[in-house]
Amino acid sequence: MPLSVRPLSAHIGAEIGGLDLSTPPSPDMMADLRRAWLDHIVLVYRGQTLDPDQQRAFVSLWGEIGGRANRLPAKNPRQQNGPDYNAAAMLVSNIRENGKPIGVLPDGELWFHHDMCYAAEPNRASFLYAIKVPSEGGNTKFANMYQAYDNLPQRLKNRIEGRTVLQAFDEIQDSRLDLSSIDIADIKHCHQPIVLRHPETGRRALYVNRLMSHRVEGLSDAESDDLLDELYTFTEDPALTYEHVWQPGDLLMWDNLCSIHARTDFPKDQHRLMRRMTIAGSTVIPAWDNQTAAE
Ligand code: OGA
Ligand code: MN
Repeated sequence: MPLSVRPLSAHIGAEIGGLDLSTPPSPDMMADLRRAWLDHIVLVYRGQTLDPDQQRAFVSLWGEIGGRANRLPAKNPRQQNGPDYNAAAMLVSNIRENGKPIGVLPDGELWFHHDMCYAAEPNRASFLYAIKVPSEGGNTKFANMYQAYDNLPQRLKNRIEGRTVLQAFDEIQDSRLDLSSIDIADIKHCHQPIVLRHPETGRRALYVNRLMSHRVEGLSDAESDDLLDELYTFTEDPALTYEHVWQPGDLLMWDNLCSIHARTDFPKDQHRLMRRMTIAGSTVIPAWDNQTAAE
């Protein structure tokens, strides 16, 4: 049966129909899925029943399973007590046992971000499988960063060409870090190109986000803040987004290099439980490297 691929918005997301992922798809089917993924950035498979082994078997067909290579600086208490960040599978959940969340990213809203952009080798892809969802909210929004780059006026493209940005994360989900009050050495951080070149499609994608991007290097703080704010009007343009309303049994996979994602708020007294796995990535390629080869 040919694969059914139904686009979910103008610029990002497609629902794949007719696949039961509890048994791994054939190599031919995987080739079609990979094409669909490169084209649509986020793939949605609904109505799946997957135990951890079945999820891992499917994820491993996409590449090497990612751990959380971003081992946490030991000094920082917020980053010491959580679940095992280096596990190949982790839970994203607000469920608590003995007062402690059983998973990461527990409660409520989560600002737009690229997973692990604060690490030298961010994960290539993330897979989230819904087990329990709240009656409302807790939706995940995705936005297309190829298109965000393409939509920039030439003035902004020129302004950011060749620049790097400081990416950092301190487990805070919905506010900006105050860099003046913390020692950056205590938290996960990394300098990354502000525009990357996608390793498979060769396309340029914006690599900034509201949660984790903090300073454009070579600018004053005020100039950097203004520039980032201006860039976020492009990265978070509603015209570039797809908002996923979860049902139990949904598996979503996203390309972490050319998309950002965010989560909407949801009631504190309702449980949300997702099982998350990733595919490892490598060093981020600046858009301006190998210019002649790829453009
Ligand atoms: C993640 C993430 C969003 C969500 O797992 O990386 O951002 O909707 N999750 O829980
Ligand atoms: Mn994320």
